[in-house]
Amino acid sequence: MTDFDLTRRPRRLRGSTHMRDMVRETHLRRDDLIMPVFISHGENIHREIPSMPGIYQHSLDELDRELDALAEAGIHRIILFGIPEQKDPVGSDTFSDEGIIQQALHYIRDRRDDFYLITDVCFCEYTDHGHCGVVTDDGTLDNDATLENLQKQAISHVEAGADMLAPSGMIDGMIGAMRTALDDANRHDVPIMSYAVKYSSAFYGPFRDAVESAPQFGDRRTYQMDPANRREARVEARLDVEEGADMLMVKPALSYLDVIREIRDRFELPLACYNVSGEYSLVKAAAAKGWVDETGVAHEKLLSMKRAGADLILTYFARDLAPHLDA
Ligand code: PBG
Repeated sequence: MTDFDLTRRPRRLRGSTHMRDMVRETHLRRDDLIMPVFISHGENIHREIPSMPGIYQHSLDELDRELDALAEAGIHRIILFGIPEQKDPVGSDTFSDEGIIQQALHYIRDRRDDFYLITDVCFCEYTDHGHCGVVTDDGTLDNDATLENLQKQAISHVEAGADMLAPSGMIDGMIGAMRTALDDANRHDVPIMSYAVKYSSAFYGPFRDAVESAPQFGDRRTYQMDPANRREARVEARLDVEEGADMLMVKPALSYLDVIREIRDRFELPLACYNVSGEYSLVKAAAAKGWVDETGVAHEKLLSMKRAGADLILTYFARDLAPHLDA
C-alpha cells in the first residue's frame, strides 16, 4: 500500500468553486430576510435618516417608491414602524383606527397583495416619555396597564390587515395577553413573533433617531435584558413558548451570536434575529470611508447569524443585499 497524506484533505475540499459550492454548510437566501420600513405621518416625506444612510422615513404617498424597490429586489416581507403625528402618555395612536400603522396597513392592503405585513407592537415611538408602555407616577413601567393596551393594539393591527404581530416591549406576560386577545377575537390564524430575548443595547441608537423614541428620562433597563446574561435568555424564551409564541427572536444579533446558538439548541420554534440599526450604521460608516467592502461585510455578518442558528434575519441590509442572493 502506498502512503497517503490526510493532512492534504482540507485544501482539496476548497480547491475549486465547484467543490466550495458543494461543501458549503450555510446559505443566506432572500427568503431569510425581513426589511424594516419606517412610516411617517404627513405628506411628501422621503426623508433619509441621518444616522442610517439608505434608510428613509416615508409618508404614505411616498411609500410605493420603497415597496417597488423592495419588490424589485425580491424582498416581500416587511416589518412596519410608525412615526405618529401625536405622542401622548399612553401611546393611544397605537390602538386608534386612524393610527399611523393602521393607515399604512390599509394603504398597502388596498393596493397590493405582494407583501407579507408584520407589525412591531410596542409603545415607545408613540409615548411622549418614550417608554414602552404606561408609566406610573414614580416613573416605573406599569406592567398590567401596558398589557391591556397591548391587547388593544394587537386587535387594532389585525383588523387593519397585519399578517403577523411582533411585540418588542419586553413586558412580562405580553405574549399570553396578546394570544388571549387574538383567540377571543377568533383570530387563531394570526401568528406572534416574539422579541423574546431583547437586550438593553447601545446598538439601538440610530433607530431611536429614526423614530424619535429615545426615553425622556431613565432608560429601558428595568424591562430589557442585561447584555451580560445568557442563562436568562433561556428563561425569557421558555416563558414566551409557554405563553403561545409562534416564533422567537434574539435582538441585537451580532454581539449575541452565542445567545442565538443557545436558543436554537434548546427550542424548536422558528428563530429570528434582529440585525439592529447600530450594527447597520457601523458598516455604512466604515464603507463610506472606503475602509471596508460593504456588500462583503454585510453578507459575512448575516451569514454568521444563520450559522449561529437563526432562520430569519430582520435587517436594514435586506433591500440592497437581496440582488446578490439566491431566492
Ligand atoms: C421597540 C423597538 C426598538 C427597536 C425595534 N423595536 C427600539 C428600542 O427598544 O429602543 C430597535 C431596532 C434597531 O435598533 O434597529 N419598538
